[in-house]
Amino acid sequence: MSVHDFSLQLSELAQADQLRARRIIDGPQDASMLVDGKRVMAYASNDYLGLANHPKVVEAAMRALKRYGLGAAASHMVSGHMRAHHELEEKLGDYIGLPKTLLFSSGYMANMGILTALAGRGDTIFADKLNHACLNDGALLSRANFKRYPHCNLVKLDAMLAESKGAGRKLIVTDAVFSMDGDIAPLPELLKLAETYDALLVIDDAHGFGVLGYRGKGSLEHFNLKSERIVYMATLGKAAGGYGAFVAGHEDIVEWILQSARTYIFTTATPPAIAAAIQASLEVMQEDRERLKHLRMLIDFFGDSLKLQFAKLPYSQTAIQPIMIGDNATTMAFADALRERHMFVPAIRPPTVPPGTSRLRVSITAAHTADDLFDLITALTDLDVELMGNVGYQRK
Ligand SMILES: Cc1ncc(COP(=O)(O)O)c(C=O)c1O
Repeated sequence: MSVHDFSLQLSELAQADQLRARRIIDGPQDASMLVDGKRVMAYASNDYLGLANHPKVVEAAMRALKRYGLGAAASHMVSGHMRAHHELEEKLGDYIGLPKTLLFSSGYMANMGILTALAGRGDTIFADKLNHACLNDGALLSRANFKRYPHCNLVKLDAMLAESKGAGRKLIVTDAVFSMDGDIAPLPELLKLAETYDALLVIDDAHGFGVLGYRGKGSLEHFNLKSERIVYMATLGKAAGGYGAFVAGHEDIVEWILQSARTYIFTTATPPAIAAAIQASLEVMQEDRERLKHLRMLIDFFGDSLKLQFAKLPYSQTAIQPIMIGDNATTMAFADALRERHMFVPAIRPPTVPPGTSRLRVSITAAHTADDLFDLITALTDLDVELMGNVGYQRK
């Protein structure tokens, strides 16, 4: 082994147009942002409701900073579990309507903790092939059998479940809204399979919480689902505008996760000011219905307008709107050309998505206006002609 191995690996990544570069953001999340010193319209944030810089949320964080100081300085099990964490868990439980809730420092930690707590050697995890990386990592770390079914393919999943009858505990694990495609998992059908095969259904609602459902409560409200078999997880760093995540469900399941999830037990608790600020986010989510209505209007407007230009776009009812391109180089060319036009849309490439499916990932937030989206659609249409020679959308 020598350091040159890494230099070689890096140059291979660069040659495949897969080298990632971070951009420096000055100032808060908003529709228009300072990115690498340049003011651009940004279509790149998961702050779907525009709460990350909401005055009530920022004020709550500042008040809590004065009350608690900055750090929790210990794990929840030792001396870091503060009133702000406790109150947030109670409020999240009331909001989501599930018996018990447990706060995690991030969605990544939550998924690693949930899957390793609920499954182990001899158990089987059935996972959608397009699940988020941290669900896959949690499944691998659990040492359970890890079986991935083709994206949303219920027939294949049914067959895989039938094959492994009687083989330890079973977990069906899925993103509710797929993070790079924006489509929604068939949760009612997955729950039926969980019932048939006596499995638990673990739902990662990172991109549905705050966005889906009549009151924005997420995918369970969207489908009107309730079951003791559901282990519900959502993140607080996206529509809630802060940081962290929570798991909610049957009291004993969540208590077991609390007692055994190593990513809960062996890490410093979230800074309490964040927990206090998220409580304010939850209040705004409940009081200010206009944000969600505006976001929904924008999602419909964007989807409908794009479809007029590009006949075969994937259908997404959520704030995540992928523009499928295909190869890495063309995807990067699109992203660069958009930046020239003062528009920031991230290019998503393997390994985040399967090879050959590189794309632009447009995220819409309540901070955008219809005009902002119209400008992006116009630019995409022009570039489709310029870079692809397409008149109308010819790619899948
Ligand atoms: C579907 C999904 N689950 C989990 C996570 C991880 O959450 P967090 O960013 O809070 O670690 C993300 C994204 O970050 C995600 O998109």
